[in-house]
Amino acid sequence: MGWRRRHADSAAEPVDFSGDNPLLLEFRARPEPTPADVEALTAQYAFAIPTDQALAAIQRHSPNGIVEIGAGTGYWASLVHTLGVPVTAYDPAPPMSPDNKWFHSSAAWFDVQRGDENVVDRHGDRTLLIVWPTRDQTWPADALDRYFAAGGDALIYVGEGPGGRTGDARFHALLGGCDHCVACTYGALDLACVCGTRPIWQQRALVALPHWPGQHDDLYIYARRERPGDPLAPRGR
Ligand SMILES: C[S@@+](CC[C@H](N)C(=O)[O-])C[C@H]1O[C@@H](n2cnc3c(N)ncnc32)[C@H](O)[C@@H]1O
Repeated sequence: MGWRRRHADSAAEPVDFSGDNPLLLEFRARPEPTPADVEALTAQYAFAIPTDQALAAIQRHSPNGIVEIGAGTGYWASLVHTLGVPVTAYDPAPPMSPDNKWFHSSAAWFDVQRGDENVVDRHGDRTLLIVWPTRDQTWPADALDRYFAAGGDALIYVGEGPGGRTGDARFHALLGGCDHCVACTYGALDLACVCGTRPIWQQRALVALPHWPGQHDDLYIYARRERPGDPLAPRGR
């Protein structure tokens, strides 16, 4: 289909799934999980399974701390915070909000504040963390635009590649993951045209994650792409 997940200039770290966080232990204890297992553990913890390597990568790329949006239960936020990284986490429906279809009955792992993608406007100094942004909604792409406009220069995304369960076509186009517009190439009228969407983020590194059967999420690290004449100077990372 022409989608690219891994870029030639993006280093993939050697695969290392070590760690002892509770979700990783639950994952290891279930070599053949049922769909009900996956659903229950996702609701209790998170959609993606952290490893020590993934958490260390987040720590390394967050010298000024993390702002996480769409944080769900705050499971990833809590683990990153345990490493000594300042973390502020937001979700428009923090647990146990009845408005959150995944986490309405879940206990929080971290103090997740109420807020949507607009909060990134005031956190351009921090690294932005987005884990499993909702499929085919526009807010994840809007967050990338807003964080860029706020001067943000480091972005960590955990999820699937273009056409997967996370983000929409514009989100992946902004990340530089599309080499053509699927809507126009295949005449797919139900997909958004991304011909005019310029990539503003450049993939720098990839950390493989363990995942449940049928899922294909990994952790990706991005830096902003500077435009000629861009008045916002990067933070020199
Ligand atoms: C698929 S869940 C992922 C949650 C968590 N990051 C995880 O991996 O477990 C998507 C989350 O995005 C949140 N969300 C929905 N609309 C949002 C918006 N406009 N801005 C930020 N987060 C949003 C939902 O409330 C939900 O908790």
